[in-house]
Amino acid sequence: MKTRAAVLEQGSTRFEIKELDVDAPGPGEVHVKFVAAGLCHSDLHLIDGDIVPRFPIVAGHEGSGIVEEVGPGVTKVKPGDHVVCSFIPVCGRCRYCASGRSNMCDNGAYLVSGNAFDGTFRYHADGRDYGSFSMLGTFSERATLSELSVVKIDEWLPLDVAVLVGCGVPTGWGTAVNAGAVTAGDTVVVYGIGGVGINAVQGAVSAGAKFVVVVDPVQFKLDTALKFGATHAFTDPKEAAAKINELTWGQGADQALVTVGVVDEEVIADAFAAIGKGGTLVVTGQAHPEKLTIHVPSGELVRYEKVIRGSQYGSCNPHYDIVKLLRMYDAGRLKLDELITKYYTLDEVNDMVDDLRDGKLIRGAIRF
Ligand SMILES: NC(=O)c1ccc[n+]([C@@H]2O[C@H](COP(=O)([O-])OP(=O)(O)OC[C@H]3O[C@@H](n4cnc5c(N)ncnc54)[C@H](O)[C@@H]3O)[C@@H](O)[C@H]2O)c1
Ligand SMILES: [Zn+2]
Ligand SMILES: [Zn+2]
Repeated sequence: MKTRAAVLEQGSTRFEIKELDVDAPGPGEVHVKFVAAGLCHSDLHLIDGDIVPRFPIVAGHEGSGIVEEVGPGVTKVKPGDHVVCSFIPVCGRCRYCASGRSNMCDNGAYLVSGNAFDGTFRYHADGRDYGSFSMLGTFSERATLSELSVVKIDEWLPLDVAVLVGCGVPTGWGTAVNAGAVTAGDTVVVYGIGGVGINAVQGAVSAGAKFVVVVDPVQFKLDTALKFGATHAFTDPKEAAAKINELTWGQGADQALVTVGVVDEEVIADAFAAIGKGGTLVVTGQAHPEKLTIHVPSGELVRYEKVIRGSQYGSCNPHYDIVKLLRMYDAGRLKLDELITKYYTLDEVNDMVDDLRDGKLIRGAIRF
């Protein structure tokens, strides 16, 4: 079958719209017609070199759509089912899945190589194989995916909104609720209010934080965070630190959540200094795999029992949490519609990238 997709032939370049052949679903696979695909900063990392995939690759790892066909042995979904993609194909059987940490499923090994489990590829053109970012490649009208990569959702939910619950929403929400373990009365500071950070704000508010301080150089992001329940907003991290000091009578924040586009030493140092005794610093934003970004005084780590931890997929269990978060939305307890600043066509994908880089988007999404 043919599809049109946004591909990267190599890094440091723009997306090219290309017609590709997409394979029919093999054993354990499903063929999905996408309705929407969100743009996450991790897709920009493919361009900028902070994630190093095998090229050429079809980008995109937030996707929602309708199952059109299933391969032999698929029992999880059937044609007509509405699905949101999980950017980790959760096996349910490895050590991490079996112990309730399916965000770290061993299948995470395939995310950047872009091939299917058997080492072959699902997209092809001109005699070449095109990889699928996160085993998905959602910047395409259609895709053939492992059944482990899709989560069936309730049919009445709008697919062009539910799409964000593939990555940005659980990652941000879980950064606060799971990794940060925010509880009622805590003081939380969030650095970087993009599609991930705004959901860290939602998570902190939903967990009952007393103060949610946000830091971002872009005023529009801060204004949006205030609408989502943040209590104080700053473009300057030093001013944020002074306010946290004042709000907590010198005790410091309970959690600092780092969800900036590219993590660097400076934001880590600010976040580490902002937390108080027993505080937790969660790093969810990414940086180049070889770059050292964490340099903190170990004396303070020891004496104040500060905790620094990473968080993958908001430390969520995607097949459980995607459904849960959508049901919270359905019940009016989670904002999703307000997260999407603008929709684009597939052909406008580079405009969407430019708008994200220019600070104009909380989330942008392709509507097919
Ligand atoms: N760990 C995971 O599982 C996971 C999942 C998804 C995304 N991510 C990563 O999370 C990060 C955020 O993704 P996103 O899609 O929200 O990105 P985004 O581009 O939408 O938002 C990033 C925000 O950070 C702000 N920012 C940049 N530098 C800053 C600084 N020094 N201080 C404060 N704010 C700053 C930007 O203005 C922007 O608003 C990326 O690195 C992405 O790769 C991680
Ligand atoms: Zn993402
Ligand atoms: Zn697993």
